[in-house]
Amino acid sequence: MCGIIGIASNKQVSSNIIESLKKLEYRGYDSAGIATISNGEIDEKKCTGRVAALEKIIFKTPSLGNLGIGHVRWATHGAPSKINAHPHSSEEVSVVHNGIIENSTILKKNLEKTGYKFKSQTDTEVITILLTDFLKKFDLVLAINKTLEKLIGSFALGILFKKHNNIIVGARRGSPLAVGYGHNENFLGSDSYALKSMTNKITYLDDGDVCILSNDKIIFYNKNGMKINKRIQTLSSDKQTADKGDFKDFMSKEINEQKFSTKVCIKEYVNHLKKDINLYNFPIEPKNIDKIVIIGCGTAYHACLAAKHWFEELTSIEIETDVASEFRYRKIKFSKKNLYIFVSQSGETADTFAALDLCKKNEVKTCSVVNAVESSIARSSDFILPIHAGPEIGVASTKAFIGQMLVLYILALKISKIRNEIPKAEYITKISNIKKLPDLINKTLKCESKIKIIAKDVYLSKGFIFLGRGPSFPIALEGALKLKELSYLHAEGYPAGEMKHGPLALIEEGLPVVILAPQDRYYEKTISNMQEVIARGAKVLLITNEENNIISENIRFSIEVPKTDNQLTTFLITIPLQLLAYHIASLKNLDIDKPRNLAKSVTVE
Ligand code: G6P
Repeated sequence: MCGIIGIASNKQVSSNIIESLKKLEYRGYDSAGIATISNGEIDEKKCTGRVAALEKIIFKTPSLGNLGIGHVRWATHGAPSKINAHPHSSEEVSVVHNGIIENSTILKKNLEKTGYKFKSQTDTEVITILLTDFLKKFDLVLAINKTLEKLIGSFALGILFKKHNNIIVGARRGSPLAVGYGHNENFLGSDSYALKSMTNKITYLDDGDVCILSNDKIIFYNKNGMKINKRIQTLSSDKQTADKGDFKDFMSKEINEQKFSTKVCIKEYVNHLKKDINLYNFPIEPKNIDKIVIIGCGTAYHACLAAKHWFEELTSIEIETDVASEFRYRKIKFSKKNLYIFVSQSGETADTFAALDLCKKNEVKTCSVVNAVESSIARSSDFILPIHAGPEIGVASTKAFIGQMLVLYILALKISKIRNEIPKAEYITKISNIKKLPDLINKTLKCESKIKIIAKDVYLSKGFIFLGRGPSFPIALEGALKLKELSYLHAEGYPAGEMKHGPLALIEEGLPVVILAPQDRYYEKTISNMQEVIARGAKVLLITNEENNIISENIRFSIEVPKTDNQLTTFLITIPLQLLAYHIASLKNLDIDKPRNLAKSVTVE
């Protein structure tokens, strides 16, 4: 993973590179670096840690030059260190890379045999050395092609040359790369978000494309080395801002924002006057769908799991869910009568994209549920359903999760209506209930003061268990994941009914167990499981809805979310879990928006 940026301008570039790198930190933040061409030489600066640390270095010793590349890293080959940070430069070239070179070990051995010495443990440095070697024998374009031919794996590259000191070369295979057009300057970046403050005119490179940019032109070549023209797109302007405002961090802002983001999303999809859902032109006629397969990674996968329940409750369609990293390597029986749905906030997750690509190669219909509508996943699918959550910056996903579930729920309802599987009155009631969701989320957010007290009581515990049944089980998984991501605590999400098959052995005096028991058809069963863990000494936090009839003096805490449609309750019981993870991490003084070892967009396998 990692983020790359390149700027060719008629003015100094380092401050814009730094600003863009800050926007790319969601892709990696263990080290950062920059290289500019200054007085005909490559000036490389790098450090471990955040872009802010690099900025301080540049403040003391400016990086001069009108041409430069920058990088934020999420280590794959070699520990996060100054030497492994990008760019990787030789006398002749400087390279930033996002992706993985799978044959780097063998390439490195061969280059070492011919006398080259490597400074770092990275896979990227082989690109630097290969290019340096080929430049001795061939012209620029041939040297680039020869280098790229040798590479197996995925890459988005930005390259500077000492001898061609007015150009930056970009190349893409597998990892995303965009170019942006400015006035007397042009840009290269891992995504359009990093370029947005400088331009709204963008072109995305396709797999195999190479580009050569200078401050006044951009030339594209396709994978066969042919010069090509590419379409320029104008980026849409975001209604919601990527600004912390008065909040301490992005995560607290994003949790709070869910009352607005859901409103925006509902407005896009639900026509309250017509009491209908605005979804048309499906890539496959819903009445003819045999099976829906819903695929994602991490939090997005949990949204897929929740959606499985709604599709099963509302339609007779067979539903399958899978994590993308498994799906892409399974021996799938593809069918043209199936719909394959890909769920991804960033739309750039490598495994999800590869799973989508596999579907495309098998010529089946695909749909993407994404936040970033200009992303690779969105652009490659037959049907795009944006979640309209606005920029999500905190690495641990919150408002995008709620948005993904919301769009999948709306889709399930609409498909059920088209297939005549939901009675009209029930459809209309569900639509009017959806309208109330933002308000109910707002009311649920008020549990924060109680959550702060609970967090104080449990934050020193060494582990946590989250239990739920039916659609509450994916939320148990999500609650455990949020806590792991933010607090570095061991947390398990389990189907409540599975406890007796092993995990019950973990229960000991004082172990916090979060029980998700809204009043649905699983309620009594889950409450019995709760009694079983209480009997063994667990410290229980019960999350249920208002007017529940549970009286147990052994429940340590309980949170009651407002009563609504059972399917919408799944959204509400998520909120206390987000807040719990947030406040535990906050008490532990951890970096909430950038947890250790993680990245927001996982663009490597
Ligand atoms: C990373 C993020 C998670 C996210 C997952 C999938 O692991 O840290 O928050 O759920 O990737 O990302 P996507 O952008 O595909 O939803």
